[in-house]
Amino acid sequence: MTNFWHKLNKPFFCLAPMSDVTDQAFRFMLAKYGKNKENINQVVFWTEFVAADGLANKLGKKKLAHMLKYTERERPIVAQVFGANPENMKKACQYIASLGFDGIDINMGCPDKSVVSQGAGAGLIKSPQLAREIIQATHAGIEAAGSHIPVSVKTRIGFNKEEIDKWIPELLKEDISALTIHLRTAKDLSLVPANWEYLKKIKELIKNSGKEVLLIGNGDVESIEDAKEKVLKYGCDGVMIGRGVFGNPWFFSEHNPTNKEKLNALIEHTNLFEKLLGLTDNFAVMKKHFKAYVNGFDGAVDLRIKLMNTNNAKEVEKVIKTHLSTGSY
Ligand SMILES: Cc1cc2nc3c(=O)[nH]c(=O)nc-3n(C[C@H](O)[C@H](O)[C@H](O)COP(=O)(O)O)c2cc1C
Repeated sequence: MTNFWHKLNKPFFCLAPMSDVTDQAFRFMLAKYGKNKENINQVVFWTEFVAADGLANKLGKKKLAHMLKYTERERPIVAQVFGANPENMKKACQYIASLGFDGIDINMGCPDKSVVSQGAGAGLIKSPQLAREIIQATHAGIEAAGSHIPVSVKTRIGFNKEEIDKWIPELLKEDISALTIHLRTAKDLSLVPANWEYLKKIKELIKNSGKEVLLIGNGDVESIEDAKEKVLKYGCDGVMIGRGVFGNPWFFSEHNPTNKEKLNALIEHTNLFEKLLGLTDNFAVMKKHFKAYVNGFDGAVDLRIKLMNTNNAKEVEKVIKTHLSTGSY
């Protein structure tokens, strides 16, 4: 069945799911400044990951609802979910599908102890049979919602060591439309450079499976130009970018923002954060963005120190406006 993945212009670029980073507020900014008529069919957004076990019950659903809010401009948008309990996965994905997302992605790459200890995230690399059941349960949930949205998987090249030949064919036995590979093992975390050479091996496995699965490479990409080079060199269909978008809502448009534009964007982002997430998220979550927005110019360190002492959007705006009025902008 045709789905949004088939309509994308290649190569395409994906906003990585990043917990407490690619929340509603930051995605709104990235869509507003980064998505346009030219790249609308070339940029795919992901939500940060959401716990299936939480979404499977009424109280959890209410608690996590803010993580699954999005705006039309973010489309195509994929919701990412993690879990190791097929029954809960089915319930969670039935709910997610009912919210109108363009796709559901299953996290099989998170190395965090709290996730792996549940058997979820990268823990599923160690249990391929369960991983397959989780994919099946995701489809079952989507079907139960009367939807046909596609399912994708984001994973790594192995758990303790590279185990592509053992792991990837298991995933390819199931119905997935796209496969994102973070080119490190779970043990590597993000401490060693991503090894893009492995993509060629994975591409070959997809080809040999006879299935039409789009391959997305991920790890250490810093710009769209860099992503395009990676596609040419390694032959993937798309590239996913995580940390490269920090502090740069213009990332996907390739506009190179001035310091003034970035500081004004930080005011806007902070106001949005407070408006959309002020009741659910601590202001410390917003503060994580400050360093990425405020750097590379005289006085950046001082400004950052002042910003780190703020407690709300109003204070942030005041500090930045004072800086802008005295700086040579
Ligand atoms: C703060 C942070 C949060 C992350 N949260 C998630 C997540 O929720 N789901 C996921 O699949 N990966 C998550 N990741 C991993 C990224 O999606 C991505 O695979 C990784 O950062 C490598 O890409 P990059 O080098 O372009 O950053 C996270 C990474 C960071 C830095």
